[in-house]
Amino acid sequence: MQKRETWATKIGLIFAAAGNAIGLGNLLRFPSKVALYGGGAFIVPYFISLFLLGIPLMILEWVIGRFAGSKGHGSMVGIMGEFFNHSYIARIVGSLGVVIPFLIVCYYIYIESWTLGFAFFSLFKKLPQPIVAEDPKLIMMPFLDFYRNYTKPSPYAIVFLTITLFVNWYILERGIIKGIELTAKIGIPALLLMGIFLSIVSLSMNNWKGLEGLYFIFKPDFSRLLDPQVWVEASGQIFFTLSLAMGAIATYASYVKENEDVLKAGLYTTGLNEFVEVLIGASIAIPAAFAMFGASSIPELAEEGTFRIGFMSMPAILTALPFGYYLSFIWFFLLFIAALTSSLALIQPLVALFEDELKIFHSNSVNISMIMVSIGAFLSAFVPKFLDELDFWAGTLFLIIFGFIEILAFVWLFGVENFYKELTRDVFLKIPKVFVYLFYGTSAIFIGLLFYFWTITKLPEYLGELSWNLIIARGFIVASILLIILIAIESKRKYFDQERDDLS
Ligand code: ALA
Repeated sequence: MQKRETWATKIGLIFAAAGNAIGLGNLLRFPSKVALYGGGAFIVPYFISLFLLGIPLMILEWVIGRFAGSKGHGSMVGIMGEFFNHSYIARIVGSLGVVIPFLIVCYYIYIESWTLGFAFFSLFKKLPQPIVAEDPKLIMMPFLDFYRNYTKPSPYAIVFLTITLFVNWYILERGIIKGIELTAKIGIPALLLMGIFLSIVSLSMNNWKGLEGLYFIFKPDFSRLLDPQVWVEASGQIFFTLSLAMGAIATYASYVKENEDVLKAGLYTTGLNEFVEVLIGASIAIPAAFAMFGASSIPELAEEGTFRIGFMSMPAILTALPFGYYLSFIWFFLLFIAALTSSLALIQPLVALFEDELKIFHSNSVNISMIMVSIGAFLSAFVPKFLDELDFWAGTLFLIIFGFIEILAFVWLFGVENFYKELTRDVFLKIPKVFVYLFYGTSAIFIGLLFYFWTITKLPEYLGELSWNLIIARGFIVASILLIILIAIESKRKYFDQERDDLS
């Protein structure tokens, strides 16, 4: 049997976990959502979701990952199996926790490749020339055209996608310690430095007018607290940014040592992610747009989708500054590092499924996983709307459903007593048991409500549409789910073969 790796150092573990969570969600998705839902109106449900959903689920995934990892399982298929008698049904339900990160990474890695491409174009001054004008729309026009041409996709987009896939493949091939941990040890400090530097640049623009942008974000606004749409979006952001209900955190947690303090690890992961999201993510794109284009431009920018702020307004603003192309390079390179450390984490559950459950050698597990991801990534590039469709289902709805399943299965079905024993083993703080009832009870009810709101606010607008592109995307989602379920079923047979071999 292949020996399972564990993280080599504590700092490496924390950086890898932070890299897992910190990604495009922090630097692009968060500012866009904040802008779209009116600053403070978004922030209040955001923090409530962080405490009611984010922290309890984060700790839960660390606890279950450590437990199942010590028994040799790192993918949700194996984790669910380990907790529930290796039954078929547990493995089949767990397969959702492998399909979700897979579907997300299929489009995520394509966007990651744009950041690499745009970093390259910035460095070699191949982005459009900034123009001097009053109207933000006019200033952004050349960048909008550039973005549209690039993502058509242009041949450059395909080249950078191939490079990005190769980089991910190479790092994953090197394994947990020499691949993922090493990347995080270099990447996360670099990301923090670049992020803090760009925050200062953005806030200080136009005589520190960027600071007013911060005020726009954090001024509490209770007027929209009763709007279910804001709640669905804010909690969706918590799931996405913390990589929760994707199986990705639990998979990383499965590589800890048996007595690792998972409570500490969970809190560090959340803390670092929120530091980068709320302090750095909030201080770059919105304040910069605020300082250069004024307050009224913000909702308008956001309405154009998640990426306009990052790929159009940011380069338009930065290239107009002294050393502008280098600043633009730093921005896109920062995005690339953030995305890379997350895409590795989104692919690893699939690798772990092949490695731990089907007993396929590491390098072949990575090869198969990367072939599957490449198919999805090229479909994201060539099929219009594929990306949005995957984001809609896997990046939002499936997270709510799987988050609910996790709480139900690992706390309530596994048993509060059993879960509590695992939660308080080798940790710095023994949380009183009443908190388990309180937090996981509240979070289950909270997710139930979100699901209800989601179906009334979001679903109708999507189900009405139908086109060939959507059929391809939905077909891909269904085919992926079926494939992973088949693997999950096959893995049970392997598991029993293994048990028999170990006994004989
Ligand atoms: N948590 C990752 C992000 O924020 C997926 O981008």
